[in-house]
Amino acid sequence: MATLKLGVLGSGSGSNMQSIVDAIEKGELDAEVKLVLADVPDAKILDRAKRHGIPCRYLDCAPWKTKLEGPAEDECIRLLKEAGCDTVILAGFMRIVKPALLAAFPMRVLNIHPALLPAFPGVHSWTQALDYGCKVAGVTVHFVDAGTDSGPIIVQKCVPVMEDDTPETLHARIQVQEHIAFPEALRHLAAGRLRVEGRRVVISGPQG
Ligand code: GRF
Repeated sequence: MATLKLGVLGSGSGSNMQSIVDAIEKGELDAEVKLVLADVPDAKILDRAKRHGIPCRYLDCAPWKTKLEGPAEDECIRLLKEAGCDTVILAGFMRIVKPALLAAFPMRVLNIHPALLPAFPGVHSWTQALDYGCKVAGVTVHFVDAGTDSGPIIVQKCVPVMEDDTPETLHARIQVQEHIAFPEALRHLAAGRLRVEGRRVVISGPQG
């Protein structure tokens, strides 16, 4: 049986989930995706899950637009537990998760954010980096805490910002690194190599 039993929450294309599924299928990550939940009924992440035979479903998060709370949060936790998930990954999930989910999976909720945190939390962070005039941008995989994009950092990758970049070209360059960073962070977690000391995540053994 796989070490990590993953529940994935997403809202969009699901390319990060795809990178994780690919790593699992190539034998590069000791994990199994047990369930995919999307808060958008026609999110592509659901199609990707179906193509790989992964159980998936739409989670109606109304009436809230930007957070997962109330009955939808209860249902989400119930579904994840019922599916046997022990780790939750936010793979392009466009909602703030609240303390009940974090308490149900303590230090087992991970997020990927397309910026070098703590710079540019929140939405469209690659556009924020471009508009700010940054010469480097990147991606962060971190444990989720009660704040927004504020939990302990596990893995970061940098990309250069080119003179002729648009938000789209910069985001595309960042996404290439996202697809390396998320499986890498999960490999460390699966191998028991992560130790959290205050804000610092100490990684023992091989770093790649
Ligand atoms: C990624 O840029 C991720 O960093 C951000 O949302 C986007 C999701 O992309 N949190 P995808 O749905 O995984 O393709």
